[in-house]
Amino acid sequence: MTSTVAPVTPIPLMELTTGFWKFKALAAAVDIGLFAAVHRRGEATAADLVADLGLEPRPLRMLLGSCTALGLLDKDGRGYRNAPPAAEFLVPGGERYFGGFVQYSDRHAYPAWGRLQEALRTNAPTTWDASTQDSAFVAETSSAILENFWDAMFSISSFTADALADAHDFGRHRRLLDVGGGMGPFPVGLCRRYPHLRATVYDLPHIAAKARAKVEGLGLSDRITAHGGDFLADAEFPAGHDVVLLSMILHDWDEPTSRAILRKCHAALPSGGAVIICELVLDDDETGPLPAAMMGLNMLVETRGGHNWTDGEYRDWLTGAGFGDIRTVPMRAAGANAAIIAVK
Ligand SMILES: C[S@@+](CC[C@H](N)C(=O)[O-])C[C@H]1O[C@@H](n2cnc3c(N)ncnc32)[C@H](O)[C@@H]1O
Repeated sequence: MTSTVAPVTPIPLMELTTGFWKFKALAAAVDIGLFAAVHRRGEATAADLVADLGLEPRPLRMLLGSCTALGLLDKDGRGYRNAPPAAEFLVPGGERYFGGFVQYSDRHAYPAWGRLQEALRTNAPTTWDASTQDSAFVAETSSAILENFWDAMFSISSFTADALADAHDFGRHRRLLDVGGGMGPFPVGLCRRYPHLRATVYDLPHIAAKARAKVEGLGLSDRITAHGGDFLADAEFPAGHDVVLLSMILHDWDEPTSRAILRKCHAALPSGGAVIICELVLDDDETGPLPAAMMGLNMLVETRGGHNWTDGEYRDWLTGAGFGDIRTVPMRAAGANAAIIAVK
């Protein structure tokens, strides 16, 4: 009998090894303004783009070929158009512009991942200096990171907010407290979807100021406010909310800190109030899913004690903080694969 088992080949290893080529092609295309230039013309030839971008024909030809093969451009005859993912998310100016995350990853995460072995040996982050700062989020963080990071989070989390609005019925809640809410992508998305809902972004004072400006620019200041504070140092969280959200917060911190945050969420809620943890949650056997495992490794280079924790760990901490009726609702988003919802 002939064997039907496929031979082992190095092809998957080649794909893994050269994965960064794809990322850098995307990052360079965003950075030099390729998708914006194609968008301005609607359809552009290579000659148009040589003129618009000031590149030599040879490298541009290579970049156009790569972006077309990657599914970012469509080619018809000699003309290039933005393919749907690029048209939708990579043209600057749109509220859901994803290029902020691409640029943050290119400028800050990519060099830090270049020092992954060092992070593995020292168990210390490489995106910021843990010998002089308490966390990546303090105002002392380089202004370049400050400029990019929260925009990047807004672009990813706008999509997660939509997925959460589908996964959980906010019709039963009146007032949301978004702990570490950044510039407010969840309050914005959820308040738009649920017209009765009001929300507070609770973040460090310099970020709360950014959230206030963002919310005002989107015309939602009458329903969304921003509260400057420190969820580690503050003894109590802002009161008057019946649902508390922790999106991509607990993965930044170690277990004792995460448990302390959950206890403060519990204290801030009325009986019957809910807490929602939105994360790329790791399976209990820690074999995947891949995005959660890789985000976990990203927490090594980005944080001092963070990790993408398992469903079981979150449930254990929620129970320890006094919550019950815990449900894990699967979600499909770039920034989260589940919402873990618990009730006081
Ligand atoms: C990974 S971001 C998540 C942002 C947002 N929740 C989202 O999902 O898009 C972590 C957030 O926690 C905030 N943060 C970090 N330390 C904080 C602290 N001690 N007090 C309040 N907010 C803090 C950061 O400023 C940042 O906005």
